[in-house]
Amino acid sequence: MTTKKYTAAELIEMEQKYGAHNYHPLPVVLERGEGVYVWDVDGKRYYDFLSAYSAVNQGHCHPKIVKALCDQAQKLCLTSRAFYNDCLGPYEKMATEYFGYDKLLPMNSGAEAVETSLKLARRWGYKVKGIPENEALIIVADGNFHGRTITIVTMSNDPDSYSQYGPFTPGFVHIPYDDTEALRKVLDEKGDKVCAMIVEPIQGEAGVYVPHEGYLKECFDLCHAHNVLFVADEVQTGIGRTGKLFACDHEGVRPDMVTIGKALSGGALPVSAVLADDEIMLTIGPGEHGSTFGGFPLAAKVAVAALEVIRDEHLTENAARLGVIFREEIAKIKSPFFKFVRGKGLLNAVVTEPQNGIEAWDICLKLAEKGLLAKPTHRHIIRFAPPLVITEEQLREAIGIIKDVFESL
Ligand SMILES: Cc1ncc(COP(=O)(O)O)c(C=O)c1O
Repeated sequence: MTTKKYTAAELIEMEQKYGAHNYHPLPVVLERGEGVYVWDVDGKRYYDFLSAYSAVNQGHCHPKIVKALCDQAQKLCLTSRAFYNDCLGPYEKMATEYFGYDKLLPMNSGAEAVETSLKLARRWGYKVKGIPENEALIIVADGNFHGRTITIVTMSNDPDSYSQYGPFTPGFVHIPYDDTEALRKVLDEKGDKVCAMIVEPIQGEAGVYVPHEGYLKECFDLCHAHNVLFVADEVQTGIGRTGKLFACDHEGVRPDMVTIGKALSGGALPVSAVLADDEIMLTIGPGEHGSTFGGFPLAAKVAVAALEVIRDEHLTENAARLGVIFREEIAKIKSPFFKFVRGKGLLNAVVTEPQNGIEAWDICLKLAEKGLLAKPTHRHIIRFAPPLVITEEQLREAIGIIKDVFESL
């Protein structure tokens, strides 16, 4: 069988014609990746400073992860959970020891992990806390991004996410992000009905909003004072991205439940999970939740390899060290389009000052021209999140590209 080689324009046109229009990609068509680099169909090389929204922390096509995937694919891909397999138990043992929780519940996408955490929180609320059935409340923060299901868009206050998808799921209380007074008020008023608060330790999709130092610890303490679970959505911030294994580790907070995804598979296939201790996890019994693919042998092997790479290659430490250099250097940019840089580890964003019809999108087009891929989030923010395998030399070269683009606008 011969495969026709399409041009970039033809490939874009095909997606436009035959695919749903639910994304607006930069006009770059990629066909290969290795480490921090990706190549387009014309052979042009780029630094990948999006890392598939932090899913590729270990770099593209990491040989150890690809080997785990290929070896297992030739043996056994999928069993469903109707039977045991020889990969899931060892993965669950490794991952729970790695992250320090009693148990792991495997799912596929980040949204499914979040959905699972909401179900667990409600179950715990009814079975353990004793909230009257169907009255449990979950507190969410404005500006959040937890995924795309109907229930999860109920939690969003971004009209692009929720408009015309109603009716929505009841039981959520919205408070401003980074506002512990608002949390205190809700808990004082309704704490007996609240089973959980779910929050991103840094709001990634919103534009890498870093809350004030101490915010997570204050939320955790307030929640615990009201017998409310503190749930951290670490789907984007977790697994080394911010310079700690979990972003909550920056404040010494051990959440009652954590959702993980994305880099859990090193970008090889969808793997997500919820981590919690027995008191919470065992509130769900056989047949009460699941997924055909959740914890399938391929995912289990790939996740183990992905976590080993993070640990063995000291990628968390690399993110912490290089993140400091990134912010220090980027802060020196002299351009009327540059406002400031913020972030932690290698999860950073530049807040721009759009003018003369030039917005973050246009800056990203120029960055792509110069060989660096990044994606705007909103009209004025550009997220920079390279794979954590990036070296200092590569980072400094990439910083040079970003500086040149800003200073030549
Ligand atoms: C914090 C957070 N939670 C959940 C999700 C949803 O993950 P997925 O797209 O795999 O469903 C995302 C995706 O960007 C995210 O950033």
